[in-house]
Amino acid sequence: MRIRETLKNIPPYVPGKLVPGAIKLASNENPLGPSPLAMQRLAEIAGQVHLYPDNGCLLLREALAQKHGLEPENIVAGNGSDEIMCLAAAAYVNPGDTVVTAETTFSNYAFAAQLFGGQMRRAPLRDGVFDLDALARLVDGKTRLVFLCNPNNPTGTYFPHTALADFLAKIPPEVLVVCDEAYADYAEAQDFPGSISFLAAFPNLLIMRTFSKLYGLAGLRVGYGICSPEVASHLRTAKVSFSVNLPGLAAAQAALEDTEFVKKSLAVNSEGKKELSAEFERLGLSYYPTQANFFCVNVKRSCHEVFQKILEGGVTIRPLASFGLEESIRVTIGSQEQNRKFIAALEKALAE
Ligand SMILES: Cc1ncc(COP(=O)(O)O)c(C=O)c1O
Repeated sequence: MRIRETLKNIPPYVPGKLVPGAIKLASNENPLGPSPLAMQRLAEIAGQVHLYPDNGCLLLREALAQKHGLEPENIVAGNGSDEIMCLAAAAYVNPGDTVVTAETTFSNYAFAAQLFGGQMRRAPLRDGVFDLDALARLVDGKTRLVFLCNPNNPTGTYFPHTALADFLAKIPPEVLVVCDEAYADYAEAQDFPGSISFLAAFPNLLIMRTFSKLYGLAGLRVGYGICSPEVASHLRTAKVSFSVNLPGLAAAQAALEDTEFVKKSLAVNSEGKKELSAEFERLGLSYYPTQANFFCVNVKRSCHEVFQKILEGGVTIRPLASFGLEESIRVTIGSQEQNRKFIAALEKALAE
């Protein structure tokens, strides 16, 4: 068999490691587990899984439209936001078109683009933050998509509302700007973009959100795009039927109503953020200020070695060599107990 040329350049995805018995702080999941209301709903609908799910995901889209003050036509549900990225590329990228993003960011943007023969154009981060001016300079007549990640994975840094406004004003209307806000629920900065407010003026904007982080449903694979009805209909045209499964739809709807769980998850993250940053300072380690549920920390030695030693202490984290940061690790903010176990393992790793 002859594999398509474009697929030969796609590196395999490097997931966070799941090691039986170890605490997993490697994939930015919710340390509290799934939303209890979602779990209850899952038990209730278990007897319905002989049925296909609603292909239009209408009930979930209605609930999301209400949450965001929009219409269901503005929402596209996907098999994780990973699917939304692929749909954006499937809808707009022809072989040889260019796709712009940052050098150090989530790898699936390149995967989605390259799947359809897109060529990546990347700008370095500036002080760990998406450099929107540099990205705008990479956009030319061949560019079909721009991927922004806010807060950025793996740095946790963000760009503010005014920076997004300036950027959108510079981008031609036929280029889709995808703003991945997988971690936006955790952002505490007052000037974090209210990106939905730009939709009316910029119908070439697609915002992505997910149920994988704050709502604790990563294993069920539900994410969504927020965009103009036109973009939504283009994305739906490229979508595999029934890609969002029945338990995922039911659990996501229930999780949206679980305000108590959301409140608790945000409080645990906020506390953990304070505790971990104080610990990194005590250990003399530099880290980026985070608006997400993880930290990017410079450990000043091989991240793979540190990963191994932390694993010996019973915790998995993410070594960032695959992101081009050979001496940095990314760690999910866990529960207080998990954070303390991680710090003990890190301190031991650094002392050896
Ligand atoms: C920046 C970013 N976007 C999207 C995703 C994927 O989200 P989903 O689980 O909704 O596919 C991740 C997962 O880690 C992520 O870090």
